[in-house]
Amino acid sequence: MLFDNHNRPIDYLRLAVTDRCNLRCFYCMPEEGIQYADRKDLLSYEEMLQIVRVFASLGIRKVRITGGEPFVRRDMMHLLRAMRDIPQLEKINLTTNGVLTRPWVAELKALGIHTVNLSLDTLDRQRFFQITRRDEFDSVMATFHALLEQQIPTKINAVVMAGKNTDDILPMVELTRQLPVSVRFIEEMPFNGEGNRHGSQLPWDHRQIVAHLRAHYPDLQKLQDPPHSTAYHYHIPGHIGNIGIIAAYSRTFCGSCNRIRITPQGVLKTCLYDAGVFNIRDLIRQGASDEQLAASLQEALQYRAKDGWEAEKRRFDNAVHESMSTIGG
Ligand code: 5AD
Ligand code: SF4
Repeated sequence: MLFDNHNRPIDYLRLAVTDRCNLRCFYCMPEEGIQYADRKDLLSYEEMLQIVRVFASLGIRKVRITGGEPFVRRDMMHLLRAMRDIPQLEKINLTTNGVLTRPWVAELKALGIHTVNLSLDTLDRQRFFQITRRDEFDSVMATFHALLEQQIPTKINAVVMAGKNTDDILPMVELTRQLPVSVRFIEEMPFNGEGNRHGSQLPWDHRQIVAHLRAHYPDLQKLQDPPHSTAYHYHIPGHIGNIGIIAAYSRTFCGSCNRIRITPQGVLKTCLYDAGVFNIRDLIRQGASDEQLAASLQEALQYRAKDGWEAEKRRFDNAVHESMSTIGG
């Protein structure tokens, strides 16, 4: 087992396979996109697999593939197929925007993918276009239906944005009435390629979201949250699915954080809000052995910030401004 300096077990890796994306969600990147990394600077699949094998041998049990958009990277399924053969891994999860995912859903099921998180901030076609700046609503919905059809446990991730999609909150909650989905409302974070636009007070924080839900569903029930969960879980009596609220900006869940991240360029992050600890790709390309990679991870975990606020304060550049797509959502 891996533990950090605050005695938190670390068993969850979020692996971002590309910084490229086929949408331009305004809360993630500016309209013109971001400066993408050179391809040669991205981790190769072989390098990713080496990292996952070494980390799994140390105690990582769950991996989430993220991006950018994972399916923008060529032959992404090759990575998933190879990861399935790493014996210690218990769960492989995927976060996708759903634009290119539909044709792969049956194979994801066959591979035994644990859950798929589909990023979808609205059920309204026009608003989808306003938020993502791309006309891909139909392809995303087709993926959603295919996931349901294949009975893959599905979570919908919706970033809540004042003045943009708060009218979508209730319709999205209504999805849980008949469908076995978990609809998760996420506080907007400053990872948009530009920087914080809300000052210190986020208008639609987790408290505001719950208050809004309670006003319309007075019998809203709080469920017990699983250990290390980043979401507050809720349920509406009679509904099939449930609801999660993720205080990603307020950072109320850091105390039990069990996760680390690898960016598309191989930077290890021990917190979403830190500026990166070291570049594991460079170590691999310098010929580091598995033992050296293992030792470098164990060392990095001894300096982990206690929470996202401390991690942000410690940044040499002092402010979060990168795009979520270069970090891995
Ligand atoms: N704030 C909150 N969530 C974000 N995501 C991307 N950028 C932000 C942001 N600035 C989410 C996406 C997706 C996940 C990968 O990260 O909507 O669900
Ligand atoms: Fe792409 Fe996700 Fe960023 Fe939207 S939030 S631009 S889908 S990486």
